[in-house]
Amino acid sequence: MNEEQRPIGVVGVGYVGLVTGVCLAHLGHRVVCLDVDEARIEALRRGTVPIYEPGLEKLVDDNAARLSFTTSHDELLAQCRVLFVAVDTPPTPSGDADLSRVRRVVDEIAHRGGRRLLVMKSTVPVGTGAHIMADLEGDGVDGITYVSNPEFLREGAAIEDFLSPDRIVIGSFSDEAGDEVEALYRGVDAPVVRTSVPTAEMIKYASNAFLATKISFVNEIANVCEEVGADVRTVAEGMGLDHRIGAHFLHAGIGFGGSCFPKDVQALKQLAGNSGYHFQLLTAVIEVNHLQKRRVIGKLKHHLGNLRGARIALLGLTFKPHTDDLREAASIVLAARLRGEGATVTAHDPMLSPGSHELFPGVDLFAEPLEAVRDADALVVVTEWPEFLRLDWAAVKEAMRRPVVIDGRNVLDPDALREAGFTYEGVGVAGLPEAVRSGSS
Ligand code: UGA
Repeated sequence: MNEEQRPIGVVGVGYVGLVTGVCLAHLGHRVVCLDVDEARIEALRRGTVPIYEPGLEKLVDDNAARLSFTTSHDELLAQCRVLFVAVDTPPTPSGDADLSRVRRVVDEIAHRGGRRLLVMKSTVPVGTGAHIMADLEGDGVDGITYVSNPEFLREGAAIEDFLSPDRIVIGSFSDEAGDEVEALYRGVDAPVVRTSVPTAEMIKYASNAFLATKISFVNEIANVCEEVGADVRTVAEGMGLDHRIGAHFLHAGIGFGGSCFPKDVQALKQLAGNSGYHFQLLTAVIEVNHLQKRRVIGKLKHHLGNLRGARIALLGLTFKPHTDDLREAASIVLAARLRGEGATVTAHDPMLSPGSHELFPGVDLFAEPLEAVRDADALVVVTEWPEFLRLDWAAVKEAMRRPVVIDGRNVLDPDALREAGFTYEGVGVAGLPEAVRSGSS
């Protein structure tokens, strides 16, 4: 097989790996995807996508002829020299990134020998590429070349982010290896940042940490807006029109979640700490994010008094809309806190089946929003699924015991809701009562 005909390997078919593999196939490459999870691979062989990502199922279908799936490293390595690594790097109890899965993949590849180009998509601490290469050298493995090619894929918009990215970052130890990876992206129109491996690794962490900082910043501005009677939505608009600031990620709410921001901010703080540097700003970003979701409890108490016996409906449980991902979702903490206060908690999320869910013990999940809000003393918009904007609010009011709406994502129209007879509160939206402003709840 000459190099042009060889398929590209992708190890790990989670959100990042599967999107990467499928999009590479869409660009015209043949791709072999490997995962150790047999059920996932079996599902993919049948054309069933085991995760929810808009457009992904169709893209798998469209490119089926160029895609294959396996659980066998031997099968993968018999065909592929270029291997994208996209396994997860969850946080360890110390806050560092857990590299055990990355290490296992590298070992599997190294011990089978041969010439390989490893392209690291997984988010790994700065210095990982150099460590891996030093370890391989120490073990006498010399056929492996390493390139860092971090991902900037938002769940829910991952395909668009892969095929029309703001930039492609390629960090390599040699120009030749970097050129080879750059060539794989032929057909994608985006600036390419070519750099060293540690710099590429840092670009990934710094980008996520900066976006998380923007969110915690605007959330603190929102909290001050509540104190002084300003409206954070217009503040963000006014700020965002300044090109140096930019309008993105200035949407105040109950904080960031998901599998990336909380983990990566913590890991960068930890990485700095391990090197003897105290990253003060990130410490505050993390703390603000923790406190932000708890403010909802104060707002509920202000309106309902003691929450013991109150019935609270949560609308939206996933960490953001257009995904089925519950990792680090604000809803988990919120539901647990409310239960701890003695409230009865009901919920609806378009991605979750009715009944119960292990992450939400004691919470009743309903198939329809109207069922979830029935007899509720308050509803909280936790995740801004578009369908919540189109709710029949007259019917919602009719169904609820008390018409209190806490809009944790500032997506509803306060005037319309107040006119409809609701007591409405957003995050940093003017008009909050004195008791909440003074923090007496
Ligand atoms: C994030 C980054 O946006 C991607 O570029 C990156 O590749 C990815 O992490 C990763 O490292 O893999 P994602 O976690 O899918 O992507 O979600 P985002 O859309 O960035 O949202 C993260 C959280 O911030 C969500 O909980 C969202 O509700 C919250 N958010 C976002 C706000 O509270 N306000 C905003 O203005 C924006």
